[in-house]
Amino acid sequence: MAGKGLFIVLEGIDGSGKDTHLKFLARKLRELGYAVVETAEPSRYGVGAFLKRYAKRKERRLPAESEALLYASDRFDHVKNVIKPALRRDQIVISARYYYSSMAYQGAVGVDLDWIREMNRFALKPDLAILLDILPEYSLHRLKRRRSIYEDSDYLRKVRDIYIKLVNQGELVKVDADRPKRVVQGELLSMVLNSLHKRAPENEQEKSETQ
Ligand SMILES: Nc1ncnc2c1ncn2[C@@H]1O[C@H](COP(=O)(O)OP(=O)(O)O)[C@@H](O)[C@H]1O
Ligand SMILES: [Mg+2]
Repeated sequence: MAGKGLFIVLEGIDGSGKDTHLKFLARKLRELGYAVVETAEPSRYGVGAFLKRYAKRKERRLPAESEALLYASDRFDHVKNVIKPALRRDQIVISARYYYSSMAYQGAVGVDLDWIREMNRFALKPDLAILLDILPEYSLHRLKRRRSIYEDSDYLRKVRDIYIKLVNQGELVKVDADRPKRVVQGELLSMVLNSLHKRAPENEQEKSETQ
């Protein structure tokens, strides 16, 4: 991605620590002087608001294919109106969930992964996409009560299997999320700082090219 913005995604099953670690990273990066946009999918608006209500129902009423299409629709809005504008302003965007969630959660019900990938082709690739990896029996234990139709350990085991497949294909980088918070956070911060530094020489080059 040209410019100084950086796009980071945190993925993982329910209770893996996405929101906790996103807040931590945003705080640390702000302390270091970076402008950070904290965001998440599903979004709070329109289709995203519907999907949030939908996940809180008692049962999964829609075909998983319809779910995949709705998540992609919400994502289009998210990319166009939140992620891209922030990157154009050279901000760091951190999103809890992105198209990998569609592949893992809808793929786990049998929806064709290539079809999901295809319908999300518009979604720009993150600079850093991290899987907070943990077994469902541990992550569900952290949650005080069931919050969504997706929180079932047999189902989440299949979700995790797809996440691991994406790690093996080099699409996600795995971080073991079953360790104490500060250990996980130390590792996450050094990965993010590493990405920021890797990006710097290109910018220097861009600068000298335009001078
Ligand atoms: N490494 C960790 N060790 C222990 N508890 C954790 C860890 N990471 C997150 N938690 C706790 O687990 C719960 C779920 O975390 P949360 O960030 O809401 O997960 P997610 O957003 O992925 O569902 C929270 O109570 C959080 O404080
Ligand atoms: Mg969360």
